[in-house]
Formats: sequence, structure tokens, C-alpha cells
Amino acid sequence: MKIAVLKELADGEARVSATPETVKKFAKLGASITVEKGAGESASISDAEFEEAGATVAERSGTIKDADIILAIQGPDPKSLKGIKKGAWIAASLNPFGERDRVDAYAKLGVEALAMEFMPRITRAQSMDILSSQSNLSGYKAVVLAGAEYGRAFPMMMTAAGTISAAKAFIMGVGVAGLQAIATAKRLGAQVSATDVRSATKEQIQSLGAKPIFVENVAGIEGEGSGGYATEMSDEYKAAQAELVSSHIAKQDIVITTALIPGRPAPRLISDAQVASMKPGSVIFDLAVAQGGNVEGSRPDEVVEKHGVKIVGYSNAAGHLAADASALFARNLYNFLSAFWDEEAGRPVLDAEIGDAVRLTQGGKVVNERLTPA
Ligand code: NAI
Repeated sequence: MKIAVLKELADGEARVSATPETVKKFAKLGASITVEKGAGESASISDAEFEEAGATVAERSGTIKDADIILAIQGPDPKSLKGIKKGAWIAASLNPFGERDRVDAYAKLGVEALAMEFMPRITRAQSMDILSSQSNLSGYKAVVLAGAEYGRAFPMMMTAAGTISAAKAFIMGVGVAGLQAIATAKRLGAQVSATDVRSATKEQIQSLGAKPIFVENVAGIEGEGSGGYATEMSDEYKAAQAELVSSHIAKQDIVITTALIPGRPAPRLISDAQVASMKPGSVIFDLAVAQGGNVEGSRPDEVVEKHGVKIVGYSNAAGHLAADASALFARNLYNFLSAFWDEEAGRPVLDAEIGDAVRLTQGGKVVNERLTPA
């Protein structure tokens, strides 16, 4: 049973899908692990550390050869998988809606592609959930990066030369990333407010000491879809939300947007006119930029300046914390594979609830029901 760990080839991807800690744990289960040369470098893990943990280090072709399970952060380019064994698993963040062609190519290669972002939101899968682990770090890093672009301080400071007032930070979308963004902005001393379409988040916002800003008395306020995710809102709700945001946003210094709806483009929360209403020097961080963006004018991996407001759009905020993000992602993968380890088979055997949710391809076909609607 051979597990292969790929070096990430995508631009700007600094994470790695295994660490010496998970290599040792996989070895304890009886697996042999091969890590592609230089895979951990950008996450501050040397080849020597992987070797000390028990892994073999090889070039890509040697890494892939005879591998039963391939681990990666982002789905590898199918063209780079020459020589992959039929029936091998690829477990990674595969972006199944955005990279549909790749999914078809995985099917053609005869591999089983397992999309870790399709992990069901059930209690026993919490420790396998890459969306949670990476969003948590993204929420933190978005505030820190926004702070770096901001020409003022976050906390109120009373100095001999006079007082500096606290920054006002507004967090839009209070899921995993948003909650961490609230907590981080609070720790830095900002005055924090937040909004979401799911009314359950109101209490969570308050418990972190921030002020909830919510649309009231409009049909469809619940906003809660399945698995704790949001749903698309009614037009009436969207209009009420836009009005509420307009009056609030003009007074904010820092805005962090994190709103996502699974399988759909990110909802547009901030228009160009709303950006124009903000004070010059304010900073907006659009964490949804890779899914189309919450903010009009945001661009992936760029800092755009509009009406004197900086709009930051790093598409891989967790990747800016490559060492921590890798450690958590690697544990998610280990928790997933080890939970299903079958001692007799000497490899993981997935059950239907989680296996059917994450498996995209099998036996040469695309088999996931979210990609092949009836
Ligand atoms: P997400 O990344 O899909 O979305 C981020 C946030 O944006 C959500 O809170 C969503 O309600 C909000 N949003 C969507 N459209 C919006 C709009 N038009 N305006 C304002 N906000 C909007 O969500 P995430 O962070 O993945 O978590 C969603 C929920 O799932 C949370 O309550 C979390 O606690 C729960 N969860 C459960 C897990 C489990 O049971 N295994 C694991 C992870 C999260």
C-alpha cells in the first residue's frame, strides 16, 4: 500500500498535503510513503525531515509509480499523472464545479478522484473537513493582510500626541472564516460588526463581542440551507440587505467579505457605488474572490484601488500561512483515510455515506450525483 505526496505545481500554492507527523502516522498503519522532491519546501518542511519521518523522496514519476493513494492540496493536472495506476485514489481539494474538465480527465485515467471539499457536514467528519480547517486560517489571515494594507492602526491609542480612534471593521458572512475574522479583528482592538443571512449566526456574533447587523422582517430571513450552508435569497431580501449595507458600510474602515453558497457563484454583496461611499484609505478583503467575488471590482490575487479604497483579493489566503495550513490539511487527510483503515485489506475502505459524497470518478466514469444530476 503506497501513498504518494505530490509537490504542488499551481502558481502561488505554498501548501503541502502531508507533514512529517502524518507520514509517521501513515507508516504506523503499515503504508509506505513517497514524497515528491521539494514538496514541503514552501511550507518550511525539508526533504530530509520527510525522510527522517520514514518517507522516501523521489521525482514525480517515481512518486506516482505504483501509488495506491495520491495526496495533494489542489487537484493535479491530469497531464502530470503519466504512469498512474488504474484504480488509484487522488484525495485533494478538486474544485469539482470550477474544474469540471479535469474531473472528466480523471475518469478517463481510470482513477478514483476524491474531492475533500465534498465532505459531508456531519459530526464524525468534522476532523476531516478541509473547508473548515482552511477557512479558519483564511479568516485570520484576511484581517492581518487587510491590516497591512491599512494606513491606520486597529486599536484606539491614547498617546501624549493625542488619541487615535479605533478602526471599524465589518465582517460579511459569518461561517467558519467570518467567525475567525471577527475574533481576530476584536483581538487587534477594532470595533467589530457583522452580518449573515443565517439568523443562527446572530448569537454567535454577539458572543464574540461584536454587533450584529441584520435584515429584519423580510420573508426568507432564515437563509439556512442543508448542512448549515446558506441558500440563495429572495429578491426582496437582497434589496433590503443592499439598503442596510449601504448605510452601514459608508462608516467602515475595514470590510472582510466571506459569503459563499455551495455550487453557485458567490453572492454580490458590495457594489461599486457602495465602495465609492467609503472613506478613502479604507480596505476591503474579498475572501470569495476565487468563486466570483462578493465585491464588484475585486480581482484574484490583486490589490485594486477604487475610489481611494483598496480591494484585496488574494484567492488563497490560507496559503499565506503555508506551514499551519499544511499541518491542518494533512491531518484532515490522515483523519479521513485512517478512519476507514481496514486492517485485513491493509488500506482504507470507504463507507457509502462519506464515500459516495466525496467520490467523483470510478471505473472510468463521473459518478458523483452533484455532478451528474438526474
Ligand atoms: P460558507 O463558506 O459556505 O459561507 C460563509 C458564510 O457566508 C456562511 O455563514 C453563509 O451563511 C454566509 N452567506 C451566504 N450568502 C450570504 C449573503 N448573501 N449575505 C451574507 N452572508 C451570506 O460557510 P461555512 O463557513 O463553511 O460554514 C457554514 C456553517 O456550517 C457554519 O454554521 C458552520 O458552523 C457549519 N459547519 C459545520 C461543520 C460540521 O458539522 N462538520 C463543519 C464546518 C462548518
